[in-house]
Amino acid sequence: MERLARKCILKIKPYVPGKPIEEVERELGGYPDVTSGWEAIKLASNENPFSPPSGVLKAIREYLPKLNRYPDDHGYYLTGALAKKYRVKQENIILGCGSDEIMELVSKTFLEPDEEVIFGDQSFVMYKIITQIMGGKPVAVPLKNYTYDLIAIRRAVTKKTKIVFIANPNNPTGTIVCDKEVRQFIRNMPKNIIIVFDEAYAEYVESKDYPRSLEIVQENRNCVMLRTFSKICSLAGLRIGYGIANPQLIACLNRVRLPFNTSNIAQVAALASLKETKWMERIRRINREEKKFLYSEFGKMGLEYIPSEANFILVKIGRDAPGAAQGLLKKGIIVRVMTDFGFPEYVRVTIGRPVENKKFVKALKQCIS
Ligand SMILES: Cc1ncc(COP(=O)(O)O)c(C=O)c1O
Repeated sequence: MERLARKCILKIKPYVPGKPIEEVERELGGYPDVTSGWEAIKLASNENPFSPPSGVLKAIREYLPKLNRYPDDHGYYLTGALAKKYRVKQENIILGCGSDEIMELVSKTFLEPDEEVIFGDQSFVMYKIITQIMGGKPVAVPLKNYTYDLIAIRRAVTKKTKIVFIANPNNPTGTIVCDKEVRQFIRNMPKNIIIVFDEAYAEYVESKDYPRSLEIVQENRNCVMLRTFSKICSLAGLRIGYGIANPQLIACLNRVRLPFNTSNIAQVAALASLKETKWMERIRRINREEKKFLYSEFGKMGLEYIPSEANFILVKIGRDAPGAAQGLLKKGIIVRVMTDFGFPEYVRVTIGRPVENKKFVKALKQCIS
């Protein structure tokens, strides 16, 4: 079969997601026993550890009888609400099956075979995969101090460069590039290169220097801002994200987008989640507090970590990081070893609910002692 596949596909190393919670529970002996309080703890995919708020669940339940219908292709109500939130037009917005899909649409729309796509070397692995799908050339630029190095990225630009992806905050380091740096970078970049700000974790950022990318997108026709409902909005399972850019750029993406790419339930839930500002504030506060708790516990264990602007932390375990992760897994706690991301001595842990973080810390102490 491989002989039949396009040559560029054969270079692709498939994406390895965090282990699903159900799989770990199966491996450790059946379904979780709620009465004994045992259930697997997933801290591996940077999801929000809390269920969606009740208002969102209610909106989903009320919509269920209409599942016989195809969704609204352009998501009129959701793009309308997003347009209002960001003070842009609906033509500036595209919805995707997760922000992943919009990245793929950018690549499918703009990338010719052998053109180059630049991104951070230790960053979100999908940038490389979607480049390879189109037969493009991935150009991975090393991070500097665990952070995107925009100066080095500018230097890596050639006549063949077509797209630049900037993960901000970066996954897996949780670091950001700031507004001033980004604006300078944009000024120095050729205008025929598409620049994508992947801001999946934007809502968690505390720094005042975080780029105002909406303004940047409005001032630069070649820039796209990507956001998602998968993280702070707790809707990872429904797969919905959005992009904001110049209407002509969005219109090009829409030529490539498959019809009905976001489900009606995802649209309804995302729309309801936009109203949950108080709930989201609570999530942000808990994330902040729990991050401090984990920093302090890592400190007590003598473990180095990278201060994070997101809902996960990259922590250095040492040479036996895979062993520690395996040990945690046997106790039903799932974290990600970062070998594939170029950090073989580290694990990335998603900040969980307070009770989960306490259990993780207790188990980690046992696994590294
Ligand atoms: C940096 C980054 N961008 C995008 C995504 C994908 O988000 P979505 O669920 O919207 O496809 C992730 C998921 O973990 C991510 O880490």
